[in-house]
Amino acid sequence: AQDGRYEAERSPATCEGTVDTNHSGYSGDGFCNTPNAAGTAVAFTFNAPQAGDATIEIGHANGGSDTRAADVQVNGSTVRAGLGFPSTGAWNSWSGTTLTVPVKAGANTVRLVATTASGLANIDYLDV
Ligand code: GCU
Repeated sequence: AQDGRYEAERSPATCEGTVDTNHSGYSGDGFCNTPNAAGTAVAFTFNAPQAGDATIEIGHANGGSDTRAADVQVNGSTVRAGLGFPSTGAWNSWSGTTLTVPVKAGANTVRLVATTASGLANIDYLDV
């Protein structure tokens, strides 16, 4: 079930980069553009009604030709290493990637951490 959309460009998300609007098609007021470096990140915080597995969707654009990879951390633990955010063909072409992550009841933080020198793809939102 989709409880809500959490935009990368606004609180409670934190974008370790710039909030940009120069590539159309994003949801909300912009997207998070992290620097082209390993270790750069964006984090989303949301409430889960109960502990268990939550299905999340992350919106991204990747106008480069190479897949950009990120470790997915939940509450500080890596639950998925090197999740690929593939090329979408253009920076104004957006795509959703769905995955299941373990959550606890209450507030949870999902953080995407770039694992390559390219940094993250441009990140638009997290749906949960
Ligand atoms: C381009 C693009 C940015 C993107 C960047 C990148 O500069 O305009 O939106 O973030 O490439 O390679 O990450």
